[in-house]
Amino acid sequence: MPQMHAAITAVEGYVPDKVLTNADLEKMVDTTDEWIRSRTGIETRHILEDGKGTSDMAVKAVNGLLKKRGIEADEIDLLICATVTPDMVFPATANVICDKLGARNAWGFDLGAACSGFIYALTVGAQFIESGKHKKVVVVGGDKMSSIIDYTDRSTCVIFGDGAGAVLLEPTEEDEGVLDSVLHSDGSGREFLHMKAGGSVRPASEETVRNREHYVFQDGQPVFKAAVVNMADVSAHIMERNNLEAEDIQWLVPHQANLRIIDATARRMGLTNERVMINIQRYGNTTSGTIPLCLADWEPQLRKGDNIILSAFGGGFTWGAIFLKWAYDGPSN
Ligand code: UT7
Repeated sequence: MPQMHAAITAVEGYVPDKVLTNADLEKMVDTTDEWIRSRTGIETRHILEDGKGTSDMAVKAVNGLLKKRGIEADEIDLLICATVTPDMVFPATANVICDKLGARNAWGFDLGAACSGFIYALTVGAQFIESGKHKKVVVVGGDKMSSIIDYTDRSTCVIFGDGAGAVLLEPTEEDEGVLDSVLHSDGSGREFLHMKAGGSVRPASEETVRNREHYVFQDGQPVFKAAVVNMADVSAHIMERNNLEAEDIQWLVPHQANLRIIDATARRMGLTNERVMINIQRYGNTTSGTIPLCLADWEPQLRKGDNIILSAFGGGFTWGAIFLKWAYDGPSN
């Protein structure tokens, strides 16, 4: 029997309308547009309105891809939602998304791997297709980071934004789709990037709220150093083990945490900027949303057979890379 692969057959992204600019942040904390641009590459980020959650952005993205593919929500077999900002601690946001979509025949679950969430979830989703268990799997990456960002902390509030993206996976016997993935984790990195309270160790209390412990804590430099090394290493590793040279790769789709980390990864892979998807300047770091948002933005330019490397590093620490062969011509081709 031929080997079954999981092909991405549709992609869609969604960011909320409200924009938070560097100029806005200059009025909120002691920062400058120049510092933010030169240290991160970010110019604007999008912010979801109060009262809405990650599921609302995900539903927009999934409805968009169902429309593109011309299928109904009840054809979805499984929906995986990668997020660190679920609508509620439980039930899973995947359950909420399926309900809002009317995906009555799907089961689903959330997957938490911070900024590597989408590549973890894509790897898991692909295996349900490869095994023959399911025909239509939706993988969502989305985060309402504004719900866990302290807008008095200049070291984190300039970086993050809200957004979601989704892909549809379907089986193919062609040599395309998700072809390889390399995933890693090292929980000792939690010291440098975490949220102190709200979990089972330190549940919410008056004290945790007073101490502002329900926000992202990041010690930026150790995270930066680990990200630069590991994102570059894992991207080079997946190239080597698939016998790929720089000229074989049409696109690098890096997690959008910092332009300097993206540049270091691309350099290590021998790629010039024209072949790297970069939209950090518009959206900032949307955590699980960055990679599918890139794929959605670049979809018109993608062609069947394009070799694509997805690469991410994030809280956990978690990191990894996926080798993907694109399965259809983007709409402008
Ligand atoms: O996606 C999940 C994984 N996360 C990442 O990959 C993020 C990795 N880390 C980073 O991208 C960078 O470390 C940051 C962008 C977070 C920070 O950049 P940095 O070049 O590492 O700056 P730093 O933390 O070393 O701070 C340098 C200086 C400090 O001032 P002093 O101590 O030198 O006087 C900071 O207080 O910059 C100061 N600073 C700021 N200044 C103006 C920190 N944040 C700001 C700010 N505006 N927003």
